[in-house]
Amino acid sequence: MSMYDFAPQGDTPKPELYDQLVESAQALIAGEPDTVANMSNLAALLWQFLPDLNWSGFYRTVEGELVLGPFIGKPACIRIPFGRGVCGTAAETGETQVVADVHAFPGHIACDAASRSELVVPVIRDDKVIAVIDLDSPLPGRFDNEDAAGIERLAQAIATAI
Ligand code: SME
Repeated sequence: MSMYDFAPQGDTPKPELYDQLVESAQALIAGEPDTVANMSNLAALLWQFLPDLNWSGFYRTVEGELVLGPFIGKPACIRIPFGRGVCGTAAETGETQVVADVHAFPGHIACDAASRSELVVPVIRDDKVIAVIDLDSPLPGRFDNEDAAGIERLAQAIATAI
């Protein structure tokens, strides 16, 4: 097993899965100041830990709008204004967005037509949304409150590393 083998068991209950995810994330970013490297590894870690995703990654706040960061998945929209779509809503409100059916979300931006549900969690540092973590799934209703709480814990744990 290498230092980068972070693989959960398939039947791990969600709270425990997120304990392991946060712990693995902390190990990955420990002592590494390069934010692109850290976001890249975190996007890959999310992809590895969470089943049924078709996109996992970051948008960063750059000069007042969201700009695409490291991710796994199909090429995506590069710039998203605050307030637009699911990511822009999370960025503007500072609140996690759990969307069971993206087709029912006003202004949803379809990057990958396969996406059916989405979880977007703001990463907050010094009271500002510095980035969002975006997870997309081809399954409707893929994300629940346990997923939201788990990714919020991750966002807190990594806020000074990205
Ligand atoms: N669906 C998102 C856009 C980002 S992509 O899905 C990667 C949204 O509405 O904010």
